[in-house]
Amino acid sequence: MILHDKISAQLPDWRARVTKLVKEHGEAVIDQVTIGQVYGGMRDVKSLVSDISYVDPAEGIRLRGYSIPEVLKLLPKPQGAQMPYVGGLYYLLLVGEIPTAAQALAVEDEWKARSLIPQNILGCLASNAAQMHPMTLLSQAVLGLQPGSQFTRRYHAGMKKDEYWLPMLEDSLDLTAKLPVLAAYIYNLKYRNGEVPQTDPNLDMGANFARMIGVEGAEYEDVARLYFILHSDHELGNVSAHVTHLVASSLSDIYFAFSAGLNGLAGPLHGLANQECLGWLLDVHRKFGGVPTNEQLRQYAWDWLNSGRVIPGYGHAVLRVPDPRFTAQFEFAQKHFPDDEILRLAAMVYEIVPQVLKEQGKAKNPAPNVDAISGTLQYHYGVREFDFYTVLFGVGRALGVTANAVWARALGQPLERPKSLTTAMLEAAAKGK
Ligand SMILES: CC(C)(COP(=O)(O)OP(=O)(O)OC[C@H]1O[C@@H](n2cnc3c(N)ncnc32)[C@H](O)[C@@H]1OP(=O)(O)O)[C@@H](O)C(=O)NCCC(=O)NCCS
Repeated sequence: MILHDKISAQLPDWRARVTKLVKEHGEAVIDQVTIGQVYGGMRDVKSLVSDISYVDPAEGIRLRGYSIPEVLKLLPKPQGAQMPYVGGLYYLLLVGEIPTAAQALAVEDEWKARSLIPQNILGCLASNAAQMHPMTLLSQAVLGLQPGSQFTRRYHAGMKKDEYWLPMLEDSLDLTAKLPVLAAYIYNLKYRNGEVPQTDPNLDMGANFARMIGVEGAEYEDVARLYFILHSDHELGNVSAHVTHLVASSLSDIYFAFSAGLNGLAGPLHGLANQECLGWLLDVHRKFGGVPTNEQLRQYAWDWLNSGRVIPGYGHAVLRVPDPRFTAQFEFAQKHFPDDEILRLAAMVYEIVPQVLKEQGKAKNPAPNVDAISGTLQYHYGVREFDFYTVLFGVGRALGVTANAVWARALGQPLERPKSLTTAMLEAAAKGK
């Protein structure tokens, strides 16, 4: 398999590089931690390592060194499509090189061969669908796949440490192959006819997903590809990536780890913001009976802030500029449906809300993040069930966190275990004791 070969070939150099760095410079200081950071959600504490992506506060994400516009331009695309193969993106994250079309297709083929969902999981989803949020269903379904983990089976059979990454990659391919089908089934159970989705061997992952949830047309196939690519990875400190990494560091397999990561993604300060953001736009639209004037919107935003709430889709823990993942989706929308009322409203919010947040002076970054626009695209193409949006995010996020998990195993990253202190100790430290 091409991914195994490519990673195997790189491993000796990577292992030697990391061993040398830790051995010769393990004591080098890279950061200092303040009391504000300890009590402030560890913001900006430099204590994780990922070579898969990096978020520059002033520029945004780079995936394996490539900016979002570069990724969208350089990755191979299906014939006639505007957006690349999602399989090509996974290759890039795992291997670190832009794939050829054949290499991207090799990943897509792996996914097709592994996409079958066990019957018991279909049954479990069907019996819980009416009572549960789509994210609860997705997290449960991922956990339901855990008995099939090759990592766990081989670990208990006895396996050398430097082989851990191989079954981790197998599990990751299985998981990322099944996730779009699980997500589509959850969509069909909750909002359509309950049909078990069938993948078409002639279609790529993005097009298959669009068909499986019943959305017709090449434009939405591109939206699906774009969405999964943009949501894949955002370095290692965000909640879903960090939780997955933390759980996997105990040598739990990827099903345990990613199910936990999804539970973090389900929170309103993280992945759930995409559904909240579209809800916010539609509330404004409803209240004013259409697109408001600039002044009405400004007042609405102020009233919202004054009631003690955050404006979803704006602000970021790391970024200090508009999120390039926002920009990519915004440009796609402007190109394909410039006259859509909700898009016109989103554009207006993009103009007004950063000004209001700046005037308020609290948010460190008044610019939009990825969630400020993603729902507008889904809504336009008829995926109007907000509850489902975080599931879409989860399908994309799996690509990044599994790639990180494979490399963490390959480089022998240890159990994660930071140290906690008491408030009295911090008070003593503050007094210089
Ligand atoms: C993303 C987010 C959680 C980052 O949090 P953070 O790193 O703590 O952000 P900041 O350091 O800028 O926060 C400083 C203050 O500004 C406020 N703030 C930040 N973004 C805000 C927003 N969009 N609307 C209103 N207030 C905001 C914070 O709530 C905080 O207020 P507090 O001091 O009263 O607690 C935050 O910006 C937010 O809640 N945004 C809206 C939700 C969202 O879009 N989430 C998706 C993230 S990809």
